[in-house]
Amino acid sequence: MTITNEDVLKALSTVEEPDLKKDLVTLNMIKDVKVEGNKVSFTVVLTTPACPLKELIRNNCTAAVQKIDASLQVTVNLIADVSSTRNNQPLLPGVKNIIAVASGKGGVGKSTVTCNLAVALARMGASVGIIDADISGPSIPVMFDVEDVRPNIVEENGKHVIIPVLQYGIKLISIGFLAPAEAAVVWRGPMASSALKQFLADVEWGDLDYLLIDLPPGTSDIHLSLVQNVPVTGALIVTTPQKVALADARKGLNMFKQPQINVPILGVVENMAYFTPQELPDSKYYIFGKEGGRQLAAENNVAFLGEIPLVQGIRESGDAGKPHVMSDDVTADAFKHLAERVAQQVAIRNSNYSATQKVEIKL
Ligand SMILES: Nc1ncnc2c1ncn2[C@@H]1O[C@H](COP(=O)(O)OP(=O)(O)OP(=O)(O)O)[C@@H](O)[C@H]1O
Ligand SMILES: [Mg+2]
Repeated sequence: MTITNEDVLKALSTVEEPDLKKDLVTLNMIKDVKVEGNKVSFTVVLTTPACPLKELIRNNCTAAVQKIDASLQVTVNLIADVSSTRNNQPLLPGVKNIIAVASGKGGVGKSTVTCNLAVALARMGASVGIIDADISGPSIPVMFDVEDVRPNIVEENGKHVIIPVLQYGIKLISIGFLAPAEAAVVWRGPMASSALKQFLADVEWGDLDYLLIDLPPGTSDIHLSLVQNVPVTGALIVTTPQKVALADARKGLNMFKQPQINVPILGVVENMAYFTPQELPDSKYYIFGKEGGRQLAAENNVAFLGEIPLVQGIRESGDAGKPHVMSDDVTADAFKHLAERVAQQVAIRNSNYSATQKVEIKL
């Protein structure tokens, strides 16, 4: 039996992308179909290298093609091209997705989640950057062990550009690199906003799949300044399961949902979900309450992105400047799963909605 490229495409048009709920051919995810005798090969272009459903997609493709003829030898190549709705933006043209990491309450683990998420995404093959937008309390320099590093400033076409600090493959910028920590404390209001603006406009970010923004707690000028300057792909809400944290997280979430801001919520991350002592790895103590983050997600009809346990190793690796996800500890898996789910939600968001608009404040 001789089969053609069209036969292969027809077979693959019965395979659905499990998250996007459309077939792979319609989604334009199939490339380089080749048929030689009974050998069939093609490439599936995934929307993220962190796709948790890779093997399922590969198996479904093989099965669909072998439905034409069971003796066909099928080779499925998987590559990733991270989806984006931000192409050709005047600011940050090479950055495909900007993800805001926010919470209402302070100290719930935004910076810890940002660092580990960044490293997990990079380890899966994505190019990642972080803006530490916490101008009065920057944490990124410590959490990446680059406190004493200073970024290079170069002149390009008569303009000064800041080269981000590179650590563990992640491009980083923080006010902590540019001003002594003690001075940062007094940066408030308009000054803080202008620092953030500089991080967006004057830093050479180049091509990035994901740029994570580690926000300060609450709903400050910085949040407004962010959405006014760039279209944000979506926001992650970090909370602990505790009642007071949830109340504040709800406010943070509602801020992004306001019609005039309209930043999609990618989901809720429940940090410090339970405590597990090292010597009792099967025990879980729900110190801050149980499943509050999960309920917040359900209430708002957004994705629940996972539980991160409260473990000493996470705090220690943060202080040591080596994000916990780099360790072999089983608790590091929570961050790997989080990265997969975040990448998945970004892909779903990019296929379902049009690009986020910058917020214009009319006076
Ligand atoms: N899952 C966890 N297990 C153990 N310690 C954690 C965990 N998450 C965060 N921490 C620790 O809790 C403290 C606060 O975390 P982090 O700085 O990430 O919070 P934040 O929300 O960014 O705070 P801020 O609002 O001040 O910016 C840090 O010392 C951090 O190491
Ligand atoms: Mg922080």
